[in-house]
Amino acid sequence: MQAVLDYLQQNESRFIEELCEYVRFPSVSAQPQHKADLQACGEWLVNHCQKLGLETKLYPTAGNPVVLAKTPRSSVRNGHRPNFIVYGHYDVQPPEPFELWTSPPFEPRIEGRSLFARGATDNKGQNLAHLKAVEAYLKTGTELPCDITFLIEGEEEVGSRSLEGFLQEHRDELACDAIVISDTGMPTPKHPALTYALRGIVSLELTVHGPSRDLHSGIFGGTVDNPAMALAQMLARLRDKNGRVAVPGFYDDVAPLSAYERKQFARLPFKASEYLKFLGVPALFGERGFTPLEQRSARPTLEINGLTSGYQGEGSKTIIPAWARVKLTLRLVPNQKPARVIKLVRTYLKKICPPSVRLEIKSGHGAEPYLVSPTGPQAQAGLRALKAAFGYEPVLMREGGSIPILNVFKKVLRADSLLLGLGLPEDNAHSPNEKFDLDCFAKGQRMSAHLWQELSRT
Ligand code: BES
Ligand code: MN
Repeated sequence: MQAVLDYLQQNESRFIEELCEYVRFPSVSAQPQHKADLQACGEWLVNHCQKLGLETKLYPTAGNPVVLAKTPRSSVRNGHRPNFIVYGHYDVQPPEPFELWTSPPFEPRIEGRSLFARGATDNKGQNLAHLKAVEAYLKTGTELPCDITFLIEGEEEVGSRSLEGFLQEHRDELACDAIVISDTGMPTPKHPALTYALRGIVSLELTVHGPSRDLHSGIFGGTVDNPAMALAQMLARLRDKNGRVAVPGFYDDVAPLSAYERKQFARLPFKASEYLKFLGVPALFGERGFTPLEQRSARPTLEINGLTSGYQGEGSKTIIPAWARVKLTLRLVPNQKPARVIKLVRTYLKKICPPSVRLEIKSGHGAEPYLVSPTGPQAQAGLRALKAAFGYEPVLMREGGSIPILNVFKKVLRADSLLLGLGLPEDNAHSPNEKFDLDCFAKGQRMSAHLWQELSRT
């Protein structure tokens, strides 16, 4: 094991260069013009995994390809050899708005112990950390106590559309004891974390159609509804002043927080004054009756992600726009079901839409919330690996983001996911100037190295 840790230390600068190569691919899954970049990024990964000595294949799907890379399997089989999947994604969120980046999003820049690039923390840096740990085992000839299969996909940021079918097709080959994922965060570098719950999500796109074309607002204004106004009025009815989602029935299935969990939440480091400043808002806002940590991970929400209508160029243009559009997502918590929530929202929207406009509703991706016991033997193994690598007592937490495939893993492979995130709140995931902390990168590699020992003992 010491040889593994020494190898990681000795090769640190090469690993950083490799991460730079990895983040140069503009693998933006939401934007069709980047299809070839996703393919190229998948091919780069395959090539990289092969060089490490992994048995690797790139599988085409209806969407972006899936990378499967396996540690060499021994032919001698006595008893059950532990077997784990490391899941990650090589697709990234759109980098816009470009003008807010200090350096171009796909030209990595290192400043101090930060590597800036889209995808650095979410999720390329985090999945590469695991690959480097396994490289260290293989290149030092240190025996791995388990079999490991890397499963790295290219559609996580758009809801993992093709992965369920892939899992169904390869379910025997992918049978495993647990799935290990580093695609979440930790509160501070001194609080390494095991995340035991994530929120689910549903996405919707609403278009309000008004007149058949943009109209002169002086000639026609006063006689026809304005789609932007109609949409604004509908949106205003989706949430009340206490921060509660106003869709009837929305809270019906929400599991309340136990007194035990609320106590655990209260132990996490959090200072409202610093948080305010960090986010650049004049005051916090959230569902009344819950703390900010509860609000952002254990309570459901409805957010506007994008809102467009009318003339956006310079100067003024006096029109009644022909249409207005909004992109919405709702974050779900146990035991809300995506299909039911979509239905409730659709029904409510149709009810509150005025007859003077036409409402078009498209529902996009959906994912169930995830919750696993943090007290099982695998979770304990994860905590020991975090402690060994970071040198601090780990915390248990829930987080508000979503990883759509977790419940599919549970359903198809009957395996739980162990979420050991390496991201920091200040990493700017999904924001301009995304970065990955190079200490988290190095410690993440060490955590992974320890993890295979710890997990294989359970
Ligand atoms: N890594 C995130 C999920 C995450 C981030 C979980 C921080 C916990 C803490 C993942 O890549 C992500 O962003 N997922 C999307 C999924 C969606 C687009 C279907 C999300 O949560 O918005
Ligand atoms: Mn993400």
